[in-house]
Amino acid sequence: MLKLENISYFVMQNGKKKHILRDVNLSFDNGKTYVITGPNGSGKSTLVKIIMGIIQPSSGKVFLDGEDITSLSISERALKGVCYAFQSPVTFKGLKVSDLMNIACGQKNDLSSLCSYLSMVGLCARDYINRPLDDKLSGGELKRIEIAMALARGGKVSIFDEPEAGIDLWSFENLTSIFEALKSTKIIVSHQKKVLQIADEIVLLKAGKVESIGSFEAVSGQIENDRCGRLRGENE
Ligand SMILES: Nc1ncnc2c1ncn2[C@@H]1O[C@H](COP(=O)(O)OP(=O)(O)OP(=O)(O)O)[C@@H](O)[C@H]1O
Ligand SMILES: [Mg+2]
Repeated sequence: MLKLENISYFVMQNGKKKHILRDVNLSFDNGKTYVITGPNGSGKSTLVKIIMGIIQPSSGKVFLDGEDITSLSISERALKGVCYAFQSPVTFKGLKVSDLMNIACGQKNDLSSLCSYLSMVGLCARDYINRPLDDKLSGGELKRIEIAMALARGGKVSIFDEPEAGIDLWSFENLTSIFEALKSTKIIVSHQKKVLQIADEIVLLKAGKVESIGSFEAVSGQIENDRCGRLRGENE
């Protein structure tokens, strides 16, 4: 089980504290699918970066299977089975797709299994496995390669930050079925109804706080109420 205990994060802006996350308490059960949603700027990416160790919280603790991993580095957490796919994937000059996937797996994999991960995300493996990971790849291609990398890595906890961004509508169904087949604990940041629908639990973040946790029906009802309230000029 992954547990976040009283996680807060602030930065200093113009000499003042700017709170990005406030007292976030969450538990993620093994093997379940969690979707974190909420308005732009509500702190979703910051929260998942704290889980991966990319950002250190200002206060609070992260536990993995009862062990306090708050002070562990990204690589130490990766070795414990935490895996992360960025909202905006990064390119690596000088590396090929196959190199990235081998690094992700922590060992050299046979070509056919690497190719099967690429096929799962809808890329013709023969065309992509030897391509350089540079800016000639389109945004959607990079996003798919990163998801394939996360699949190749496997592990205990797989985090995806807006995996649907840049993925065309035709491939969308395929993406949700990949998540459904993945055995690890999944934490997916998403705004998409189709992704929200596959969640065991949805976490709604607002202004850095957990507004609610619940089923698709419960949380989408609340999002709809908020939207109507905003249109009527409430909640401002
Ligand atoms: N280092 C920083 N300095 C100042 N502000 C920051 C910093 N990091 C994040 N923020 C701010 O914190 C807020 C939350 O950012 P975050 O990227 O977590 O939002 P998000 O919920 O992922 O949004 P989106 O849906 O647009 O991806 C934003 O207002 C962002 O500008
Ligand atoms: Mg984000």
